[in-house]
Amino acid sequence: MTETARLTLGDRTIDLPVIVGSENEHAIDISQLRKETGYITLDEGYGNTGACMSAITFIDGDKGILRYRGIPIEVLAEHSSFVEVAYLLIWGKLPNRPELESFRQLMAKHSFLREQLRHHFEAFPPGSPPMAVLSAVLNSMACFYPELLEAEDVDIFQEGAARILSKVRTIAAYSYNHDMGHSLVYPHPDKSFCENFLHMMFSQPYKDYEPDPALVRALDVLLLLHADHEQNCSTSTVRMVGSSGANLFASVSAGVSALWGPLHGGANVAVVQMLETILSRGMSVKDYVEQVKNKKEGIRIMGFGHRVYKSFDPRAKIIKTQAEAVLKKIHRDDPLLAIAEELEGVALEDDYFKERSLYPNVDFYSGVILRALGIPTAMFTVMFAIGRMPGWIAQWYEDRFITKGRIQRPRQVYTGPTELCYVPLDNRD
Ligand code: CMC
Repeated sequence: MTETARLTLGDRTIDLPVIVGSENEHAIDISQLRKETGYITLDEGYGNTGACMSAITFIDGDKGILRYRGIPIEVLAEHSSFVEVAYLLIWGKLPNRPELESFRQLMAKHSFLREQLRHHFEAFPPGSPPMAVLSAVLNSMACFYPELLEAEDVDIFQEGAARILSKVRTIAAYSYNHDMGHSLVYPHPDKSFCENFLHMMFSQPYKDYEPDPALVRALDVLLLLHADHEQNCSTSTVRMVGSSGANLFASVSAGVSALWGPLHGGANVAVVQMLETILSRGMSVKDYVEQVKNKKEGIRIMGFGHRVYKSFDPRAKIIKTQAEAVLKKIHRDDPLLAIAEELEGVALEDDYFKERSLYPNVDFYSGVILRALGIPTAMFTVMFAIGRMPGWIAQWYEDRFITKGRIQRPRQVYTGPTELCYVPLDNRD
């Protein structure tokens, strides 16, 4: 028998259908509630609201489970690559060899930026925030590929998706080198996804950058771990913008803007700034934790806590292991890693953090790997955006082509004044 939820409002009782997901998640379908009762639901911050049905990513926050299309993140991190995972997220299955090869070739073909698009970088003043540049240039791609704006068939969508996945690296590297006053290095179609990015970032016209393979792999895993995370703030933004019928470029550009904030992707920058502050002020980790707990300074442990994970974030575990391994492999010490590990140890033993179920999240250790790669701190959130791009594209595609969602349009509980008389300008106090 199909389960229903019974709601009593005064002397009325209505039955609401219960939807059950493939992992036995239960949801009360309130879509007819207003029509039948005049009531809406209120859930500020959407902590308890499902905005869509999705078959892409599964998270069990109590058990620390994350799966892309059913495959555990730990398995993908060990055996797969970022490009394979991008394919998996968008097309719903891991590619076989020919599929992977043609996906790679499509991305290689689309890694270049049009020359006019390249000139955009000159218009940004030195020191421009890289997330602003990324969002603006991604959005302006719509001007260069008008044929991709009406992505109403799968082939056109695939072209647009490959262009974005590939060019986002080029945009990020150009933005960095333009800001540094360095020559812009063109993409190399024979290099792998991450090698190509590092080549565009760090090669000189007279000398190719030869990264340590351990660093390339660490970057690949880092991107893969960021590739999707169901209905987080930026992904919900992408789906919301896309639900109006807006094109893929506009939608992912909005995703970049949402990701920028320090409570979301910007946390990876904030973590390093926090660790650097502790280091430069010679503060003890215990003192920092006390300041967080007394709340007077209004500071948090950045890279700690998560809306969904209440036991641990499986991505953080993998990244921590990777960070330690990569530093060992390249024979480098990073004082920030030691502070981060001490901070984690102190916080995890403290009742404040235990009671609130606060654990390291994906952003806590990612900066250590990015620093080892030579990526400047200001670009950390851009790296998150490169990693999250397959998820945004997959979720946009699902909403547009698979579930064909309605335009997203939340309601509100109005708390402003009731009807007022209009006062002409000359009569106002
Ligand atoms: N340090 C100290 N206290 C915290 C922290 C933290 N990092 N996070 C939450 N709390 C406390 C918060 O003060 C509140 O305490 P109280 O009940 O006494 O008022 C309680 O825990 C619940 O916090 P909340 O803000 O209601 O939780 P939320 O689910 O709305 O926020 C969060 C989740 C991730 C925004 C938050 O934990 C946070 O601000 N963390 C630091 C920023 C960060 O690392 N963000 C990256 C998130 S993961 C990757 C991503 O999404 O990009």
